[in-house]
Amino acid sequence: VHRLPPPLSAKVVGSFAYLTVKDRLPTILTKVIDTIHRNKNKFFEEYGEEGIQAEKQTISLLSKLRNELQTDKPVLALTDGLPDTESWNQYLQRHQGSEGDQESVSWFKSTWLYVECYMYRRIQEALWLNPPISDYDVFSEGKTQSFFESQQAVITLCTHLENIKERMQELSKNQLLEHFNKLLQVSLWGNKCDLSISAGQDNSQKISPIDSLRSLQPFILVDDSNMVWSTLISAQTLGQSGKITTGRVDIVLDNAGFELVTDLVLADFLISSGLTREIHFHGKSFPWFVSDVTAKDFHWTIRQTMAANHKWMSKSGFEWQNYMKEGVWSYHDHPFWTQPHEFCDMATDAPDLYATLQGADLVLFKGDLNYRKLTGDRDWNHMVGFDCALRGFGPTPLCSLRTLKANVQVGLQPGQGEKLTSQDPDWMTSGKYAIIQFHSTKS
Ligand code: F6P
Ligand code: MG
Repeated sequence: VHRLPPPLSAKVVGSFAYLTVKDRLPTILTKVIDTIHRNKNKFFEEYGEEGIQAEKQTISLLSKLRNELQTDKPVLALTDGLPDTESWNQYLQRHQGSEGDQESVSWFKSTWLYVECYMYRRIQEALWLNPPISDYDVFSEGKTQSFFESQQAVITLCTHLENIKERMQELSKNQLLEHFNKLLQVSLWGNKCDLSISAGQDNSQKISPIDSLRSLQPFILVDDSNMVWSTLISAQTLGQSGKITTGRVDIVLDNAGFELVTDLVLADFLISSGLTREIHFHGKSFPWFVSDVTAKDFHWTIRQTMAANHKWMSKSGFEWQNYMKEGVWSYHDHPFWTQPHEFCDMATDAPDLYATLQGADLVLFKGDLNYRKLTGDRDWNHMVGFDCALRGFGPTPLCSLRTLKANVQVGLQPGQGEKLTSQDPDWMTSGKYAIIQFHSTKS
């Protein structure tokens, strides 16, 4: 009988999960508290006494949260009575049931994926319980800063894109494929720039995202980009009128800042080359894992790009705004993306979202957290197949574009994992390596 490997957990002392819960999460919480405190004149005092009280209350709830975490207290049920509260609490109960006693669902003893997601939901609870400041995004400063610090790289990338678009008609199929591969890799490496791994420290793109691709190539451990390409091609159908119709691509976004720009550039290329008809972007409905994209970040990024003092950058921005207006691009969020569930639960726990993804011809999952959820964040043997780790999840052909930042990696060649471990013990958590890993239920 096939036994499932255990989920990663901070109970393994010294593991990356352990260090995250012990060091990185409290650091992130301390920064959040500091941000609220620092901005009290700017954002909260306009609500008068009520604003000042809300700020104090929120900070005290967050300090309490940090203390629960650091002293390994049991994970508490949520009390804010929002639409997703029930499902969080049920999940908690289920876990208590399966592990036996209450004690086991404490910060260091339960699964890493669950407690890490739970922390971001508790931050939100502290804000939601204090209405005048409920909408405040505690991570917004970091996200905007990382966008501006990557400005040069954004300009380079937009210029590159507009150059391709000017000559699009003359491109041979091979040249098109070459450009596609490059922009797919730019979007892949864009995932290096997240603010959760760096606990909020600056982690923006400083060098040219195009010139660096060649030297990064050896660090791509799995490269299924040819399957991604053939999925796009086979989604093309010949209509009765003799016109070719192309497919829909969904991009499950990860981080705002430079990574989001790389995703938008890839999406623009897919549309303007005619490889794809429509793109659906999926983001988070509240601030998540420090730098993840919310609706606000998404629209802000397009507006900033339009307003840039650079010809090609602002041209890209206007184009993106048009795609949105015409419905060629659309932005969606769903509560499932901010829950702790692994994706194999999606069909049961969020059937509407599963059905939505089934409508796409290809889904790109950006980033590390999505990979952890795809594979259930388990301590898999590296040679186990991606299809096996997905445990039945497969609404449509899908591909993970991820730099490695957690101890989970499947689908490697025999010996590949061992070799990496001997050469570079931190290969799974340094963000230095990446994968383009594809799965399709269709044969
Ligand atoms: O461990 C680093 C970490 O905080 C993980 O918890 C998480 O998987 C990752 O960073 C977030 O990375 P990404 O933005 O690529 O999902
Ligand atoms: Mg992220």
